[in-house]
Amino acid sequence: VRVLVTGSSGLVGFETVELLRAGGAHEVVGVSRARSAQASSSVAWDMAAEPPPAELRRPWDVIVHAAADTRWTMAPAEAARANVNSVAALAPLVSSDTHVVHISTAYAVGLRGDVQSEQLGDYRNTYEWSKAHGERLVSETFEHFTIIRPPLIIGRREDGRAARFAGMYTVLRGITASMVPVVVADPDAYFEVVPVDELAQLIVEVSQRPAGDGVLTIAGGSRAPRVRSAFDRITSALNAWRAERGLEPFAEPRMISRESWDRFFLPFVRDQLSRRQHRVLELLSNFEPYLRLSEPLTPTHQVAGMESCIATAVRYWADTEHRQASQAPRAWKAATR
Ligand SMILES: NC(=O)c1ccc[n+]([C@@H]2O[C@H](COP(=O)([O-])OP(=O)(O)OC[C@H]3O[C@@H](n4cnc5c(N)ncnc54)[C@H](OP(=O)(O)O)[C@@H]3O)[C@@H](O)[C@H]2O)c1
Repeated sequence: VRVLVTGSSGLVGFETVELLRAGGAHEVVGVSRARSAQASSSVAWDMAAEPPPAELRRPWDVIVHAAADTRWTMAPAEAARANVNSVAALAPLVSSDTHVVHISTAYAVGLRGDVQSEQLGDYRNTYEWSKAHGERLVSETFEHFTIIRPPLIIGRREDGRAARFAGMYTVLRGITASMVPVVVADPDAYFEVVPVDELAQLIVEVSQRPAGDGVLTIAGGSRAPRVRSAFDRITSALNAWRAERGLEPFAEPRMISRESWDRFFLPFVRDQLSRRQHRVLELLSNFEPYLRLSEPLTPTHQVAGMESCIATAVRYWADTEHRQASQAPRAWKAATR
């Protein structure tokens, strides 16, 4: 089976390429903007800007499309370029024998619960909006397709390995930089994460079938941890790692409602924050809509036991980003000008 994996240097693509290769039955070629160090057979292609290079213009049985820009802060045009143009760019490589396995997000359904709206206001951010458009394009353009929707993705269940750190790891970076005094969140909301290896297994499983499977969602659903217990896990795993090195623990960020943030916290500190503190708070505020999800997702593929995966993922991150994870806690105080 000839498989093209886009985004092969990324969190999901890296794991998928490795798993496909381990299976042995596949000829696997990876794509990213820069030639990947992992693979002898990887091709550099900026899918948002260029047509496919000649070396990729050959028959493919499966194309796993995992290339994307996952930032929540993109301008609309930037998001559309990254997450819609990249889908359109695949068209010359797809024949009536090609199964396109498109990696989307569980939140592509935005605030309305489906991907049909073209209005930005129906989504939490430009990322969701562009991923919804990407899904529409996939289903309109390709004959055989499967769309897989994961929520936040973290490292492997067994050892926490992750090729790149985004999403949950942004919170971890914020905590270790002493930049997260409080988190605006609903402690009882669902905190949806899946381990990257289980997502890669699903991708490989689906890739073995010639026909498309429609839309699949991999998530914890009603078995997902709640925000409070997820943050407990994040902080306690980090502090256990630090204790082994004789380092002082971090306090768990206090959880407050949006209302008390707006009414009490923000006016009080707004003028006193450093530019860096502002930037971090802004970055974290993009997380907020995902920390008050009161309805569980409805997965077609359910994952469980995510609390221990979170702890393992934190440990792997700390081992990899040793200096960042070892920083001394500093008091959250106004900037000195
Ligand atoms: N990470 C999450 O928590 C999460 C959650 C839900 C859904 N997803 C979805 O899962 C898929 C994989 O995401 P990920 O977490 O693996 O992302 P990632 O770690 O940021 O990796 C993105 C990959 O896409 C490549 N890429 C980006 N822009 C490209 C372009 N213009 N042309 C060619 N390659 C490009 C990157 O390579 P270079 O940077 O080297 O070009 C990299 O290999 C995406 O569809 C994403 O929307 C991710």
